[in-house]
Amino acid sequence: MNKAVSGFSKLSKEDKINWIAKTYFSNPNQAIDLIKNYWNSDLKLQKLHDDFIENTITNFYLPLGIAPNFLINGQFKTIPMVIEESSVVAAAAKSAKYWSTRGGFKATVLNTEKIGQVHFIFEGDAVKLENFFQTIHSKFFSDTESITKNMQKRGGGILNVELRNKTNLITNYYQLHATFETKDSMGANFINSCLEQFSKTLKHEANNFGGFSSSEKNIEVVMSILSNYVPNCIVRAEVSCKIEELADKNIEKPLEFAQKFVRAVQIATVEPFRAVTHNKGIMNGIDAVVLATGNDFRAVEAGIHAYAARNGQYSSLSNAKIENEHFYFSMEVPLALGTVGGLTSLHPLVKFALDMLENPSAPTLMQIVAVAGLAQNFAALRSLTTTGIQEGHMKMHLNNYLNQLEATENERVLIKNHFKHNAVSHAAAVDFIENLRK
Ligand code: MEV
Repeated sequence: MNKAVSGFSKLSKEDKINWIAKTYFSNPNQAIDLIKNYWNSDLKLQKLHDDFIENTITNFYLPLGIAPNFLINGQFKTIPMVIEESSVVAAAAKSAKYWSTRGGFKATVLNTEKIGQVHFIFEGDAVKLENFFQTIHSKFFSDTESITKNMQKRGGGILNVELRNKTNLITNYYQLHATFETKDSMGANFINSCLEQFSKTLKHEANNFGGFSSSEKNIEVVMSILSNYVPNCIVRAEVSCKIEELADKNIEKPLEFAQKFVRAVQIATVEPFRAVTHNKGIMNGIDAVVLATGNDFRAVEAGIHAYAARNGQYSSLSNAKIENEHFYFSMEVPLALGTVGGLTSLHPLVKFALDMLENPSAPTLMQIVAVAGLAQNFAALRSLTTTGIQEGHMKMHLNNYLNQLEATENERVLIKNHFKHNAVSHAAAVDFIENLRK
């Protein structure tokens, strides 16, 4: 069977599905039924989702869970999370409840600057290029007025455009390095439109610049694109309390707990193998809220991991210390988020999630997302340094096993009772159910 296809995007949705079903499935009708089973009966809603991307054939569900009781800067928030991993929402809710009686989370946006670059090749005299750049600097602003007009009304716009000489890295390589304030939008389209205009201005002005030789007039723009690395778009999230206040039913010796917790963060600070998993736990919280609020989790992931390696070695995003009989736990992360534009008004569940968060500004959403990350990190380290994670993890995972085994309601009650006092594993769940069914 020929598995190559031409003009696929031009086929109707029905024809795309038929082609896939016939090409890849021994039982095409079953595959078609499965795909259609996930369609929404509301045709308008389905069309909305179909149009988000190309070649849509169906919807792919992920659960939207809710983590309540997040006390952030003195206000309670209920946080929406989209994630497939069983224990994440439970851990977030547990952390939120725990810190709600210990002063809650504090979150502060330190800055909100975004970055974009025009990468270009200039074959000529660097001093002449610098003079040329100074001469045309204001043109970058005037030529983009039609793009920046609305953003300026909202208090944003282009902050600065710099010329950067990168010829020590690649022969003749220079950049226009631009900074932006994009207020409540993530700003990718705004920034990229400005950058593409900058590159036109650069080429056009160079071509007409009297001081350049003919080869200098011919600037080669390689590309114009925003950077997802935003080290000046930082939010800080933190918790602290007296050591003795850390005590609860699972933390009988709070000082010992605090010391071990701080040690665990130290290990993630110096040891990249641990740092990656430590930060992955933070991203469990961050990605889930970023997804629920319709933001670009790939951009956030890329930017945060680059930030975690900013000192030349990949390291923990969070910090912990004991000082003056207090426990302090904090984190600073770069987050370029939007609460307007993009999916925010298009996807009904994103709109719902933002409504539930009381329609935050982008900086407020940065605070909420960072807190979700810190809460998740606290929950993971608390489990890891006390009971280990498998106990809670496998209890949450039991539901997945029960679904795989198609357990009846009756069987579920018996199994859940059994595993209250026994270690959960896939094999143990299978054994138990096979015995029941004998
Ligand atoms: C699992 O998704 C996340 C953890 O591995 C994070 C960590 O180890 O800190 C539990």
